[in-house]
Amino acid sequence: MTPLETVLAGAWLMLPALIPNSAAVLWGGGTPMDFGRSWKGRRILGEGKTWRGFFGGALTGALFGMLQIALAAAFGTEQTWGFGNWPTALAVVLVISFGSMLGDSTGSFVKRRLEIGRGAKAPVLDQYSFFVGAVLLALLAFPDWFLDHYVRGDGVFALVLLLVLVPLLHRSANIIGYKMGKKNVPW
Ligand code: CTP
Ligand code: MG
Repeated sequence: MTPLETVLAGAWLMLPALIPNSAAVLWGGGTPMDFGRSWKGRRILGEGKTWRGFFGGALTGALFGMLQIALAAAFGTEQTWGFGNWPTALAVVLVISFGSMLGDSTGSFVKRRLEIGRGAKAPVLDQYSFFVGAVLLALLAFPDWFLDHYVRGDGVFALVLLLVLVPLLHRSANIIGYKMGKKNVPW
């Protein structure tokens, strides 16, 4: 793999973690994950975190990951542009897609504890919580997969690219969600 290929593969393989946050906006609605409950006078997660958004978002990311697994198998590129061998590949996809939504929920939990209202701006937390969730869970469950693609060798440039791309993607998706009438604010 050339350094450029390593960086592009790193971005490609993180898509199952990047898609859920945007997809959740489209799926969102219905029962809130905290069932409307509060803790110390503040909502645990708030009205912006629903079960439909959580599973709809995570499963949309996972479905895209399964498509990537199928493509890598078809081209015989499981070890470079894929998530490795089945069934580990599927496990990695599920870990980063669900990790992404877990990180997003954790971000809202922290926001509520800091007394930041649902939908109100929380710089860094809003843009990175889902990404950090995916990264931490990947490090826990498949450390070598993460280190090989995003830390060791040229992989670190993939991580740097993602750190720049993630807030831009987050912003673009929210502007689209706002224009579609799915979000009340464009951030
Ligand atoms: N969403 C959802 N369920 C989730 C995550 C997101 O239904 N688990 C939907 C909600 O409609 C939410 C929108 O996606 O309003 C945008 O998500 P986000 O910006 O994360 O939520 P906010 O409404 O800004 O709430 P918070 O302040 O808690 O981040
Ligand atoms: Mg928000």
